[in-house]
Amino acid sequence: QTNGSTNLKRVLVTGGLGYIGSHVVASLLVTGRYLPIVVDNCHNAYPAALERCAEIARDALGPDAPQPILHNVDLRDPSAIDDVFTKYDADGGIWAVVHLAALKAVGESGEQPLAYYRVNVAGSISLFEAMAKHNCNNLVFSSSATVYGTPQTIPIPETSPLMPESCYGRTKAMVEEIIHDICRAGPGAEGKEALRAVSVRYFNPAGAHPSGKLGEEPRGKPGNLLPLLAQMAVGREKSQLKVFGTDFPTPDGTCVRDYLHIMDLAGGHTLALDALAVPTSENNIFSQCDAKDGQYRAFNLGKGKGMSVLNMIEAMRKASGYDYQYETVGRRRGDVPDLTADPTLAEKELGFVAKEDLESMCRDLWNFQQQHPNGYSS
Ligand code: WQD
Repeated sequence: QTNGSTNLKRVLVTGGLGYIGSHVVASLLVTGRYLPIVVDNCHNAYPAALERCAEIARDALGPDAPQPILHNVDLRDPSAIDDVFTKYDADGGIWAVVHLAALKAVGESGEQPLAYYRVNVAGSISLFEAMAKHNCNNLVFSSSATVYGTPQTIPIPETSPLMPESCYGRTKAMVEEIIHDICRAGPGAEGKEALRAVSVRYFNPAGAHPSGKLGEEPRGKPGNLLPLLAQMAVGREKSQLKVFGTDFPTPDGTCVRDYLHIMDLAGGHTLALDALAVPTSENNIFSQCDAKDGQYRAFNLGKGKGMSVLNMIEAMRKASGYDYQYETVGRRRGDVPDLTADPTLAEKELGFVAKEDLESMCRDLWNFQQQHPNGYSS
């Protein structure tokens, strides 16, 4: 379906105001092929992010650039989700969904499992029911490397078994299975089409849009390492930096993660949508899927390069000039020693390449933080 008034394909982006979501919205806009319709409850993000996406689109495409649309909707409200789809039915409908909205703090998920199952699993089911009802059959799902738990092999291929070790990781693995079952079910009814879905398993996104207009702006103190380091360097976060565990089986004893630039990660979503836009009759990413197993694929979006906590602190010291002092403390619940991707499948089938290096991630993050020392709310 395309928007009746333009030839753009409407894409509903849940969680589109968030760190990853806003960069995905900006990436979709600048392709000139997609019109992002954002659904977000603003629980952990600011509506100001959408205007910055619009600015980025105008910078790239000129004053007539497509403008994203926001619906302040909560996935825990099924009728509100359905109403959004209904709004566009008469004008070409919604062509695809990029589903990012979720609660995502690994540690917190262990303390609040019901909240995580309500939003991440029940909220996803409400979304998928609305998609089926409105015949929206293309889905990109924001999954996570945490579904692998402590993998047997590093770097991790997509064939690695899903053995999540946190409530958060379990919600992501469950939603992947739910999606796969919907794909297996086929069209379901006369005149309907089967769901075709791509799960993208993120590793650790870092950095910010090079313009400095978008970046990571969680409400409250960041739980993640990179935004915390950036806020410390700009004087916004005054607490003592703690390194959670130096006794891991890794080169320097601290956890290793596969950090990739947020722009590369966002671009991976555009490539997944481009792959969904290839008709099933042609050779596409579902050609190898057998009929009974449904048109479902999963891809790692990572750089394939592991970097430790200490490596990241040193890289941010170089980018910001800030002399980080840290205290080493015990391990954080749910942390696994190493999550490094094998990204070759996404590279081969989606044309995905996480090309930006660590210096670029830290430079863009620092540039963003300097432009917004007090965040979007300012
Ligand atoms: C990285 C490393 C910490 C803060 C991410 C996403 C999460 C989920 C899993 C999303 C870890 C260490 C951190 C600090 C520290 N995926 N650390 N001191 O845990 O890999 O989680 O992937 O789908 O949403 O955030 O990232 O940045 O929290 O931690 O030592 O003050 O830094 O122990 O080893 P993580 P992170």
